[in-house]
Amino acid sequence: NTSSLAYPVGTTLDRFIKLKQEEFQFASGELSQLLRDIALAAKIVNRETNRAGLANIGGAFGQTNVQGEEQQKLDVIANIRFTRALTKGGEVCAIVSEEDDEVIDLQNGSGKYVVAIDPLDGSSNIDVNISIGTIFSIYRRVTPIGSPIQPEDIMQPGNQQVAAGYVLYGSSTMLVYTTGHGVNGFTYEPSLGEFFLSHQNMVAPSDGNIYSVNEGSYYQFEAGLQEYIEHCKAKFYSARYIGSLVADFHRNLLKGGIYIYPATQKSPNGKLRLLYEANALSFIAEQAGGKATDGHGRILDIQPTALHQRTPLFIGSKNMVDEAGNFLKKNA
Ligand code: AHG
Ligand code: MN
Ligand code: MN
Ligand code: MN
Repeated sequence: NTSSLAYPVGTTLDRFIKLKQEEFQFASGELSQLLRDIALAAKIVNRETNRAGLANIGGAFGQTNVQGEEQQKLDVIANIRFTRALTKGGEVCAIVSEEDDEVIDLQNGSGKYVVAIDPLDGSSNIDVNISIGTIFSIYRRVTPIGSPIQPEDIMQPGNQQVAAGYVLYGSSTMLVYTTGHGVNGFTYEPSLGEFFLSHQNMVAPSDGNIYSVNEGSYYQFEAGLQEYIEHCKAKFYSARYIGSLVADFHRNLLKGGIYIYPATQKSPNGKLRLLYEANALSFIAEQAGGKATDGHGRILDIQPTALHQRTPLFIGSKNMVDEAGNFLKKNA
Protein backbone atom coordinates (compact mmCIF):
# COMPACT_ATOMS: atom_id res chain seq x y z
CA ASN A 1 0.00 0.00 0.00
CA THR A 2 1.85 3.01 -1.27
CA SER A 3 -0.41 5.56 0.42
CA SER A 4 1.55 5.11 3.64
CA LEU A 5 4.77 6.34 2.01
CA ALA A 6 5.79 9.58 3.68
CA TYR A 7 6.39 12.53 1.36
CA PRO A 8 7.85 15.65 2.94
CA VAL A 9 5.22 18.36 3.51
CA GLY A 10 6.21 20.98 0.98
CA THR A 11 6.31 18.49 -1.86
CA THR A 12 4.74 20.30 -4.81
CA LEU A 13 1.74 18.80 -6.58
CA ASP A 14 3.82 18.30 -9.75
CA ARG A 15 6.52 16.42 -7.85
CA PHE A 16 3.95 14.37 -5.93
CA ILE A 17 2.18 13.37 -9.14
CA LYS A 18 5.51 12.33 -10.62
CA LEU A 19 6.54 10.34 -7.53
CA LYS A 20 3.13 8.65 -7.33
CA GLN A 21 3.18 7.92 -11.04
CA GLU A 22 6.43 6.00 -10.64
CA GLU A 23 4.54 3.72 -8.22
CA PHE A 24 1.95 2.79 -10.86
CA GLN A 25 3.83 0.46 -13.13
CA PHE A 26 1.29 0.87 -15.96
CA ALA A 27 0.92 4.63 -15.69
CA SER A 28 1.99 6.18 -18.97
CA GLY A 29 1.83 9.77 -17.80
CA GLU A 30 -1.42 10.89 -19.43
CA LEU A 31 -3.40 10.85 -16.17
CA SER A 32 -0.58 12.78 -14.50
CA GLN A 33 -0.74 15.36 -17.28
CA LEU A 34 -4.52 15.57 -16.95
CA LEU A 35 -4.21 16.27 -13.23
CA ARG A 36 -1.71 19.02 -14.00
CA ASP A 37 -4.12 20.53 -16.55
CA ILE A 38 -6.86 20.60 -13.89
CA ALA A 39 -4.49 22.23 -11.39
CA LEU A 40 -3.63 24.93 -13.93
CA ALA A 41 -7.30 25.77 -14.50
CA ALA A 42 -7.82 25.81 -10.71
CA LYS A 43 -5.07 28.44 -10.34
CA ILE A 44 -6.74 30.61 -13.00
CA VAL A 45 -10.24 30.26 -11.49
CA ASN A 46 -8.77 30.92 -8.05
CA ARG A 47 -7.35 34.23 -9.28
CA GLU A 48 -10.67 35.22 -10.85
CA THR A 49 -12.66 34.14 -7.79
CA ASN A 50 -10.48 36.24 -5.53
CA ARG A 51 -11.17 39.41 -7.48
CA ALA A 52 -14.77 38.77 -8.67
CA GLY A 53 -16.05 41.89 -6.91
CA LEU A 54 -13.44 44.07 -8.60
CA ALA A 55 -13.48 42.62 -12.09
CA ASN A 56 -17.23 42.96 -12.55
CA ILE A 57 -17.53 39.17 -12.83
CA GLY A 58 -19.82 38.77 -9.85
CA GLY A 59 -23.54 38.44 -10.22
CA ALA A 60 -25.77 36.72 -12.73
CA PHE A 61 -24.71 35.92 -16.27
CA GLY A 62 -28.24 36.37 -17.53
CA GLN A 63 -28.93 32.82 -18.77
CA THR A 64 -30.50 29.70 -17.26
CA ASN A 65 -28.62 26.40 -17.43
CA VAL A 66 -30.02 22.95 -18.13
CA GLN A 67 -30.59 22.60 -14.40
CA GLY A 68 -33.05 25.49 -14.51
CA GLU A 69 -30.64 27.55 -12.41
CA GLU A 70 -29.74 31.17 -13.14
CA GLN A 71 -26.07 30.94 -14.18
CA GLN A 72 -23.66 33.20 -12.34
CA LYS A 73 -20.89 34.87 -14.34
CA LEU A 74 -18.31 32.81 -12.46
CA ASP A 75 -20.17 29.59 -13.33
CA VAL A 76 -19.66 30.42 -17.00
CA ILE A 77 -16.10 31.69 -16.59
CA ALA A 78 -15.01 28.63 -14.58
CA ASN A 79 -16.66 26.37 -17.16
CA ILE A 80 -14.75 28.06 -19.97
CA ARG A 81 -11.43 27.93 -18.08
CA PHE A 82 -11.67 24.22 -17.21
CA THR A 83 -12.99 23.22 -20.65
CA ARG A 84 -10.20 25.20 -22.36
CA ALA A 85 -7.47 23.74 -20.09
CA LEU A 86 -8.71 20.18 -20.68
CA THR A 87 -8.98 20.78 -24.43
CA LYS A 88 -5.46 22.22 -24.66
CA GLY A 89 -4.04 19.49 -22.41
CA GLY A 90 -4.85 16.89 -25.07
CA GLU A 91 -5.63 13.98 -22.70
CA VAL A 92 -9.46 14.28 -22.75
CA CYS A 93 -11.91 13.14 -25.44
CA ALA A 94 -15.19 14.28 -23.81
CA ILE A 95 -16.43 16.52 -21.01
CA VAL A 96 -19.72 16.46 -19.08
CA SER A 97 -20.28 19.80 -17.36
CA GLU A 98 -23.06 21.03 -15.10
CA GLU A 99 -23.15 24.13 -17.28
CA ASP A 100 -23.52 22.37 -20.66
CA ASP A 101 -26.75 20.65 -21.71
CA GLU A 102 -24.97 18.06 -23.88
CA VAL A 103 -21.67 16.15 -23.74
CA ILE A 104 -18.79 18.29 -25.06
CA ASP A 105 -17.06 16.10 -27.67
CA LEU A 106 -13.50 17.44 -27.95
CA GLN A 107 -13.00 15.62 -31.29
CA ASN A 108 -9.68 14.46 -29.83
CA GLY A 109 -8.72 11.17 -31.48
CA SER A 110 -5.99 10.45 -28.95
CA GLY A 111 -7.85 11.43 -25.79
CA LYS A 112 -8.20 8.47 -23.41
CA TYR A 113 -10.13 10.23 -20.63
CA VAL A 114 -13.65 11.49 -19.99
CA VAL A 115 -14.08 14.24 -17.37
CA ALA A 116 -17.31 15.11 -15.56
CA ILE A 117 -17.10 18.49 -13.87
CA ASP A 118 -18.99 20.93 -11.70
CA PRO A 119 -16.90 23.96 -12.61
CA LEU A 120 -18.21 26.07 -9.78
CA ASP A 121 -19.99 24.50 -6.81
CA GLY A 122 -21.89 26.73 -4.40
CA SER A 123 -22.75 29.47 -6.89
CA SER A 124 -25.23 31.06 -4.51
CA ASN A 125 -22.27 31.94 -2.29
CA ILE A 126 -20.13 33.78 -4.88
CA ASP A 127 -21.50 37.27 -4.25
CA VAL A 128 -21.49 36.92 -0.46
CA ASN A 129 -17.84 35.90 -0.31
CA ILE A 130 -18.40 32.44 1.15
CA SER A 131 -16.25 29.45 0.10
CA ILE A 132 -17.04 27.84 -3.27
CA GLY A 133 -15.44 24.97 -5.15
CA THR A 134 -14.90 22.88 -8.26
CA ILE A 135 -15.61 19.13 -8.41
CA PHE A 136 -14.20 16.73 -11.02
CA SER A 137 -14.47 13.05 -11.87
CA ILE A 138 -12.22 11.19 -14.35
CA TYR A 139 -12.94 8.00 -16.34
CA ARG A 140 -11.09 6.15 -19.08
CA ARG A 141 -13.18 5.92 -22.26
CA VAL A 142 -14.38 2.34 -22.85
CA THR A 143 -14.68 2.42 -26.68
CA PRO A 144 -11.55 2.33 -28.90
CA ILE A 145 -9.33 5.41 -28.79
CA GLY A 146 -9.98 7.56 -31.83
CA SER A 147 -13.45 6.13 -32.52
CA PRO A 148 -16.56 8.32 -32.07
CA ILE A 149 -17.60 8.91 -28.44
CA GLN A 150 -20.43 6.53 -27.39
CA PRO A 151 -22.97 6.76 -24.53
CA GLU A 152 -21.14 3.93 -22.72
CA ASP A 153 -18.06 6.18 -22.52
CA ILE A 154 -20.12 8.74 -20.64
CA MET A 155 -22.69 6.74 -18.66
CA GLN A 156 -20.21 4.92 -16.43
CA PRO A 157 -21.01 4.08 -12.78
CA GLY A 158 -18.90 5.87 -10.19
CA ASN A 159 -17.08 2.63 -9.37
CA GLN A 160 -15.29 3.00 -12.75
CA GLN A 161 -13.65 6.32 -11.89
CA VAL A 162 -9.84 6.40 -12.25
CA ALA A 163 -9.54 9.67 -10.32
CA ALA A 164 -11.67 12.33 -8.65
CA GLY A 165 -11.10 15.52 -6.74
CA TYR A 166 -12.20 18.97 -5.74
CA VAL A 167 -10.81 22.46 -5.43
CA LEU A 168 -11.94 24.51 -2.43
CA TYR A 169 -11.62 28.29 -2.93
CA GLY A 170 -11.76 29.04 0.80
CA SER A 171 -9.71 30.92 3.40
CA SER A 172 -6.95 29.11 1.59
CA THR A 173 -7.35 27.37 -1.77
CA MET A 174 -6.89 23.61 -1.68
CA LEU A 175 -6.84 20.81 -4.22
CA VAL A 176 -7.83 17.38 -2.84
CA TYR A 177 -7.82 14.28 -5.06
CA THR A 178 -7.57 10.50 -5.24
CA THR A 179 -6.46 8.09 -7.94
CA GLY A 180 -7.68 5.13 -5.91
CA HIS A 181 -4.62 4.99 -3.67
CA GLY A 182 -5.76 7.19 -0.77
CA VAL A 183 -6.65 10.89 -0.61
CA ASN A 184 -4.13 13.74 -0.53
CA GLY A 185 -4.62 17.49 -0.05
CA PHE A 186 -2.56 20.35 -1.43
CA THR A 187 -2.64 23.98 -0.35
CA TYR A 188 -2.07 26.75 -2.90
CA GLU A 189 0.65 29.36 -2.34
CA PRO A 190 -0.45 32.19 -4.68
CA SER A 191 2.85 34.07 -4.40
CA LEU A 192 4.60 31.06 -5.92
CA GLY A 193 1.73 29.74 -8.06
CA GLU A 194 2.26 26.24 -6.62
CA PHE A 195 0.12 23.70 -4.76
CA PHE A 196 2.09 22.15 -1.86
CA LEU A 197 1.28 18.86 -0.10
CA SER A 198 -0.34 19.85 3.20
CA HIS A 199 -2.74 16.99 4.05
CA GLN A 200 -1.18 13.62 3.27
CA ASN A 201 -3.26 10.44 3.27
CA MET A 202 -6.47 12.07 4.52
CA VAL A 203 -8.64 9.74 6.62
CA ALA A 204 -12.29 10.46 7.50
CA PRO A 205 -13.08 9.95 11.22
CA SER A 206 -15.55 7.03 11.38
CA ASP A 207 -17.70 9.02 13.82
CA GLY A 208 -18.53 12.69 14.17
CA ASN A 209 -20.91 15.16 15.76
CA ILE A 210 -21.56 17.52 12.87
CA TYR A 211 -24.57 17.18 10.58
CA SER A 212 -25.08 19.23 7.44
CA VAL A 213 -28.58 19.45 5.96
CA ASN A 214 -30.83 22.29 4.84
CA GLU A 215 -33.38 22.13 7.66
CA GLY A 216 -35.45 24.74 5.86
CA SER A 217 -36.84 21.74 3.94
CA TYR A 218 -37.43 19.67 7.11
CA TYR A 219 -41.19 19.36 6.56
CA GLN A 220 -40.51 17.97 3.06
CA PHE A 221 -38.28 15.17 4.43
CA GLU A 222 -39.38 11.54 4.84
CA ALA A 223 -40.21 10.52 8.42
CA GLY A 224 -37.03 8.46 8.91
CA LEU A 225 -34.86 11.44 8.06
CA GLN A 226 -36.85 13.72 10.36
CA GLU A 227 -36.26 11.16 13.13
CA TYR A 228 -32.52 11.04 12.34
CA ILE A 229 -32.31 14.85 12.61
CA GLU A 230 -34.13 14.74 15.96
CA HIS A 231 -31.58 12.10 17.01
CA CYS A 232 -28.72 14.46 16.05
CA LYS A 233 -30.28 17.23 18.14
CA ALA A 234 -30.82 14.89 21.09
CA LYS A 235 -27.11 14.07 20.92
CA PHE A 236 -26.29 17.80 20.88
CA TYR A 237 -24.52 17.56 17.52
CA SER A 238 -23.50 20.77 15.75
CA ALA A 239 -25.54 21.87 12.73
CA ARG A 240 -23.19 23.22 10.06
CA TYR A 241 -24.58 24.00 6.57
CA ILE A 242 -22.65 26.33 4.28
CA GLY A 243 -24.64 25.97 1.05
CA SER A 244 -21.47 24.91 -0.74
CA LEU A 245 -21.26 21.13 -0.91
CA VAL A 246 -17.47 21.15 -1.34
CA ALA A 247 -16.96 23.27 1.79
CA ASP A 248 -19.33 21.19 3.94
CA PHE A 249 -17.81 17.96 2.59
CA HIS A 250 -14.23 19.10 3.25
CA ARG A 251 -14.93 20.18 6.85
CA ASN A 252 -16.73 16.88 7.57
CA LEU A 253 -13.85 14.92 5.98
CA LEU A 254 -11.38 16.56 8.35
CA LYS A 255 -13.49 16.74 11.53
CA GLY A 256 -16.00 13.94 11.07
CA GLY A 257 -19.62 14.54 10.13
CA ILE A 258 -22.39 13.79 7.67
CA TYR A 259 -23.71 15.87 4.76
CA ILE A 260 -27.23 15.08 3.59
CA TYR A 261 -29.06 16.37 0.53
CA PRO A 262 -32.16 14.16 0.60
CA ALA A 263 -35.15 13.65 -1.62
CA THR A 264 -37.72 16.36 -0.91
CA GLN A 265 -41.27 16.86 -2.22
CA LYS A 266 -39.86 19.63 -4.46
CA SER A 267 -36.88 17.50 -5.61
CA PRO A 268 -37.90 13.82 -5.39
CA ASN A 269 -34.38 12.72 -6.46
CA GLY A 270 -32.64 15.37 -4.37
CA LYS A 271 -30.78 18.31 -5.92
CA LEU A 272 -27.21 17.08 -6.34
CA ARG A 273 -26.09 15.61 -9.64
CA LEU A 274 -24.70 12.08 -9.83
CA LEU A 275 -22.03 12.45 -12.52
CA TYR A 276 -20.14 15.53 -11.33
CA GLU A 277 -21.03 15.98 -7.67
CA ALA A 278 -22.06 12.75 -5.93
CA ASN A 279 -19.76 10.29 -7.74
CA ALA A 280 -16.59 12.36 -7.36
CA LEU A 281 -17.05 13.10 -3.65
CA SER A 282 -18.22 9.52 -2.98
CA PHE A 283 -14.99 8.13 -4.48
CA ILE A 284 -13.00 10.47 -2.25
CA ALA A 285 -15.13 9.66 0.82
CA GLU A 286 -14.64 5.90 0.38
CA GLN A 287 -10.92 6.29 -0.33
CA ALA A 288 -10.66 8.16 2.99
CA GLY A 289 -12.53 5.41 4.85
CA GLY A 290 -15.88 7.21 4.78
CA LYS A 291 -19.14 6.23 3.11
CA ALA A 292 -21.62 7.58 0.55
CA THR A 293 -25.15 6.35 -0.18
CA ASP A 294 -28.41 7.64 -1.60
CA GLY A 295 -29.93 6.78 1.78
CA HIS A 296 -30.13 3.10 0.88
CA GLY A 297 -27.45 1.93 -1.60
CA ARG A 298 -23.86 2.82 -2.51
CA ILE A 299 -23.61 5.90 -4.73
CA LEU A 300 -20.71 4.44 -6.73
CA ASP A 301 -22.82 1.46 -7.84
CA ILE A 302 -25.57 3.58 -9.43
CA GLN A 303 -25.75 2.99 -13.19
CA PRO A 304 -26.33 6.45 -14.73
CA THR A 305 -29.24 6.77 -17.19
CA ALA A 306 -29.22 10.53 -17.79
CA LEU A 307 -26.41 13.09 -18.06
CA HIS A 308 -27.65 15.47 -15.36
CA GLN A 309 -29.57 12.99 -13.25
CA ARG A 310 -29.88 13.82 -9.58
CA THR A 311 -29.52 11.58 -6.54
CA PRO A 312 -30.12 11.94 -2.84
CA LEU A 313 -26.72 12.01 -1.08
CA PHE A 314 -25.74 10.89 2.42
CA ILE A 315 -21.96 11.25 2.67
CA GLY A 316 -19.22 11.46 5.29
CA SER A 317 -18.27 9.50 8.41
CA LYS A 318 -19.04 5.82 7.89
CA ASN A 319 -20.89 5.20 11.17
CA MET A 320 -23.02 8.34 10.73
CA VAL A 321 -24.04 7.38 7.18
CA ASP A 322 -24.89 3.87 8.41
CA GLU A 323 -26.92 5.26 11.34
CA ALA A 324 -28.87 7.66 9.10
CA GLY A 325 -29.58 4.74 6.74
CA ASN A 326 -30.93 2.69 9.65
CA PHE A 327 -33.37 5.48 10.56
CA LEU A 328 -34.61 5.56 6.96
CA LYS A 329 -34.93 1.75 6.85
CA LYS A 330 -36.83 1.63 10.15
CA ASN A 331 -39.41 4.05 8.78
CA ALA A 332 -39.57 2.76 5.20
P1 AHG B 1 -24.08 24.33 -7.61
O1 AHG B 1 -23.77 25.70 -7.11
O2 AHG B 1 -22.92 23.68 -8.30
O3 AHG B 1 -25.35 24.31 -8.43
O4 AHG B 1 -24.32 23.39 -6.34
C1 AHG B 1 -25.00 23.89 -5.26
C2 AHG B 1 -25.38 22.75 -4.35
C3 AHG B 1 -24.35 22.46 -3.27
O5 AHG B 1 -23.12 23.08 -3.47
C4 AHG B 1 -24.98 22.99 -2.02
O6 AHG B 1 -24.65 22.22 -0.90
C5 AHG B 1 -26.45 22.87 -2.34
O7 AHG B 1 -26.57 23.10 -3.73
C6 AHG B 1 -27.25 23.89 -1.60
O8 AHG B 1 -28.59 23.66 -2.00
P2 AHG B 1 -29.78 24.35 -1.16
O9 AHG B 1 -29.55 25.83 -1.30
O10 AHG B 1 -31.03 23.85 -1.81
O11 AHG B 1 -29.64 23.87 0.26
MN1 MN C 1 -25.46 25.15 -10.29
MN1 MN D 1 -22.49 21.88 -7.32
MN1 MN E 1 -22.00 24.28 -10.09
